Amino acid sequence: MDALRRARALLHDADRVVVLTGAGISAESGVPTFRGPEGLWRRHRPEELATPEAFRRDPCLVWEWYAWRRSIVAGCAPNDGHRALARLALLDRPRTTLVTQNVDGLHHRAAVEVAGPDAGRALPLEVHGAIHRDRCSRCGARTPAVAEVSTSSPEALPRCHCGGLLRPDVVWFGEALDAEVLGAAFEAAAEASVCLVVGTSALVYPAASIPEITLGAGGVVIEVNTDATPLTPWASVSLRGTATSLVPALAEAPSSG
Ligand code: OAD
Repeated sequence: MDALRRARALLHDADRVVVLTGAGISAESGVPTFRGPEGLWRRHRPEELATPEAFRRDPCLVWEWYAWRRSIVAGCAPNDGHRALARLALLDRPRTTLVTQNVDGLHHRAAVEVAGPDAGRALPLEVHGAIHRDRCSRCGARTPAVAEVSTSSPEALPRCHCGGLLRPDVVWFGEALDAEVLGAAFEAAAEASVCLVVGTSALVYPAASIPEITLGAGGVVIEVNTDATPLTPWASVSLRGTATSLVPALAEAPSSG
């Protein structure tokens, strides 16, 4: 049996599946990854742009960076990989929980495209937050993203009704992940007999522990990636190729080929 068929059979025989995605699934939509040859962290220093210290030191610079990333995401659309995972999450069997490290909102948009009013069932747990939301750096209140952010001076930056500076609602280096969201992801990982891991370098913890939890509970890992990762030796099936070519084929019913 070839690797794709084996993976498809594993996926569809599972009662419960957890899917972990990373920047690779959005790469073909035009959202840059972090660690690839053109990756964001090859050109920018995370400690200057994606830490609480950086925001305290130079909030205008940090806002400029996120306004730029928002503009990129606004010009992108979900791809066949996002849509195939939304469809998988809508099935009753396997019962599937989507977990993403991506902040781009493309899984969310794919769910709405595919399921309309039923989109709720296909929404991902966004463990690193969402770029299309703001959060108050003082009181923690969450709001939809301010449309236009003026970064000319700290005084011009958007503020919460409490007076605190708003910031993008994403997790920065050195910050804890939302305990409720992470807890739900870990629970899904422990209950899953298959963890499907798509387009992540599997280097950033605690998200990278999701497949490890499934493995520890006796489940298996299927990996979809253009390259090998530290997770590859642990995967029962490793599919080498792009998310848009492999994920739709993987999510099809096994009888179809
Ligand atoms: P990375 O940039 O580290 O890894 C992207 C992965 O996707 C790599 O393993 C690539 O080989 C793979 N890839 C690229 N194009 C692909 C394609 N078309 N199809 C399938 N795979 C492809 O991104 P993440 O693993 O998501 O965190 O990074 C994890 C976290 O590190 C991010 O959420 C972000 C970053 O710092 C925070 O900002 C907190």
